[in-house]
Amino acid sequence: MRYLSIALAKGRLADKSIVYFESIGFDCTELKSSTRKLVLKDEKNKIKFFLVKPADVPTYVEYGAADMGIVGKDTIMEEGRRIYEVLNLGFSKCRMVVAGPAVLEGRLDQLNNKRVATKYPKVARDYFEHKRKESIEVIKLNGSVELAPLVGLSEVIVDIVETGTTLKENGLVILDKIADLSARLIVNRVSMKMESRRINRIIDGFRKELEEEGVIIGQDN
Ligand code: PRP
Repeated sequence: MRYLSIALAKGRLADKSIVYFESIGFDCTELKSSTRKLVLKDEKNKIKFFLVKPADVPTYVEYGAADMGIVGKDTIMEEGRRIYEVLNLGFSKCRMVVAGPAVLEGRLDQLNNKRVATKYPKVARDYFEHKRKESIEVIKLNGSVELAPLVGLSEVIVDIVETGTTLKENGLVILDKIADLSARLIVNRVSMKMESRRINRIIDGFRKELEEEGVIIGQDN
């Protein structure tokens, strides 16, 4: 039997995913060991886990280097890869929003040629240019995005809000919600056909675990 490979976003998402893999009987001993190894195996079930940067999970899955992956909806939206998104895992919930100073509340339409600072240029462009039909200037940042409107780098930001603390502590408010986000199970299109039996067993096992936990399936958040 060939190995089934699963790409996981390093960090919190991978840690939370382990619960689900263990619930379906996978041996995550190697995955849980703190090591610098990037390929971690469950020999008994012929599973290989790859630990990669979140933004790279959809890339590994699209090209078939990984059969499946677990990654945040924000990354799926930003990367725009050709993959199947098969299950909402319900954890790591947060929102993608437009935020800025309170003075802009209800006035998003009046800001022509807005400058939008974001770690998510594609999401920002899709939202402003396709949904709101407004042209914007996207300024790509790599973190601490909330700083941009405070120092005049941009009028607004497109970013993730989890608790809302970062916005609040920097005097910013949510101006519009773009999407509800959470961790998702994704699958390579060819693997879905070629390995359907093993992949569906994993999907069904996860779904059962989610049902037992009372996580609502099918809801887009
Ligand atoms: C994320 C996000 C916000 C913050 C939101 O940043 O980009 O800045 O968390 O969380 P909150 O609503 O609970 O305050 P992250 O912590 O990943 O750091 P970064 O800004 O350096 O990317």
